[in-house]
Amino acid sequence: MSVVVGVDTSTTATKAILVDEAGAVVATGAAEYGYDTPRPLWSEQDPGLWWEATAAAIRSALDTAGLRGADVAAVGLTGQMHGACLLDEAGDIVRPALLWNDQRTADQCGEIRRHLGDRLVAITGNDALTGFTAPKLLWVRTYEPANWAQVAKVLLPKDYVRYRLTGDFATDVADGSGTLLFDVAARTWSDEVLSALELERELFPAVYEGQEVTGEVSADGAAATGLVAGTPVVAGGGDQAANAVGVGAVETGIMALSLGTSGVVFAVTDSPVVEAGGRVHSFCHAVPARWHLMGVMLSAAGSLRWFRDSLAPDDTFDDLIEPAGTVSPGSDGLIFLPYLTGERTPHPDPLARGAFVGLTVRHDRRHMTRAVLEGVAFGLKDGLDLMVEAGIPPPRQIRASGGGVRSPLWRQVLADVLDSEIATVNTSEGAAYGAALLASVGAGWHSTVANATAASVTVVPVATPGNAAAAYADAHARYRDLYPALAPIFHASQPPIGG
Ligand code: XUL
Repeated sequence: MSVVVGVDTSTTATKAILVDEAGAVVATGAAEYGYDTPRPLWSEQDPGLWWEATAAAIRSALDTAGLRGADVAAVGLTGQMHGACLLDEAGDIVRPALLWNDQRTADQCGEIRRHLGDRLVAITGNDALTGFTAPKLLWVRTYEPANWAQVAKVLLPKDYVRYRLTGDFATDVADGSGTLLFDVAARTWSDEVLSALELERELFPAVYEGQEVTGEVSADGAAATGLVAGTPVVAGGGDQAANAVGVGAVETGIMALSLGTSGVVFAVTDSPVVEAGGRVHSFCHAVPARWHLMGVMLSAAGSLRWFRDSLAPDDTFDDLIEPAGTVSPGSDGLIFLPYLTGERTPHPDPLARGAFVGLTVRHDRRHMTRAVLEGVAFGLKDGLDLMVEAGIPPPRQIRASGGGVRSPLWRQVLADVLDSEIATVNTSEGAAYGAALLASVGAGWHSTVANATAASVTVVPVATPGNAAAAYADAHARYRDLYPALAPIFHASQPPIGG
């Protein structure tokens, strides 16, 4: 049997999946790790953990399937985006990587805006956000000059795994876009941005399209993972772009929606489209000649988990959600703001906070549960609305993945609020599956990424918009007014962000 391997280096675990020529998942392997928060708002991880977990996950998947390294035709990589992994001249780690959810860099974001002015959004497609890579580099340069002096290479998390696997320094266009150092239209590093921020081009790896082979498994990589030296490794993609490939969102009109801890709306475009305020992310897709817009909310299914764990810890999600179906759309005037861990789209504000607004004695747990489902859908709708304002056509279909999509009521709320058919697909392996499909193109099994997804992804529509549009439009309008009204209170009750 011949398989391809998709490896996903997420924030909490590395997963390896084996996929056969028909697109079926043959086996999976995983190894978990933690991350550190040495100070409030900081988030760091030892890159060595990613490599150890990659080796363990690949070995475990091969063992489970009863396959050998020689059965693997190609490897595709994906992972958490935006992290800054800093290596010295010898390829050793200089300091722990600063992760995508690290929020320490508000001052450096201001510095980047000052240096680049209007050119920032025009070139990179994005405003400066604390999560992105560039402000992290400026932070290390400012506060840890001795560490910065040692830095010879800056890699994204999955590209550190590539370095250990192949010895090559390379990245893909989708992950590269999340650094804020990319010319998104040209699909490569921006000399103008690099020079404005006084960063040397040599610090950054070579750039490839998602399905292109960047190198081969080295002897050391083979010894660690059980793969065979010489096995091709493709560029892959950042986790959101790879997830979109995994659900077949590779053409305009088909959107991807991910309803995990965070919530993402992802729209494919066939030219670079920029939202003037840079409030939705504008990145290259992991598919050649395709770009995408993306809205990221930080607590989506995470909001429902918080609600269950805090108020109904003995109930299953089904027990909690089913009674909420007896409440009318709009939750009888109750609104939930889902900013439990701050927010990114449409309010890039680490200090935003959650709220229930409009409680009366008539409300009970059913209304509160429904308000959580609706509040998350409204947050996703805010991202979608910004994309439509930026010029993309409303979606024909939204392909949803993540734990929240198991709920029929939540699917219906999403279909009504987003005014689109919601569909699910045949796999739940998300980004790792997309990375495997990119590898299947690199292996020569398919001529294009679109052919790979057409041959492998099966789509099942699960909800269509009903007649609740007016009730939701009214509730969404009130939801939108709440953040500007409450922001001064959120900000007044928080400690300032320090360097
Ligand atoms: C994407 C993003 C997250 C991280 C972690 O912009 O920040 O998807 O990649 O998964």
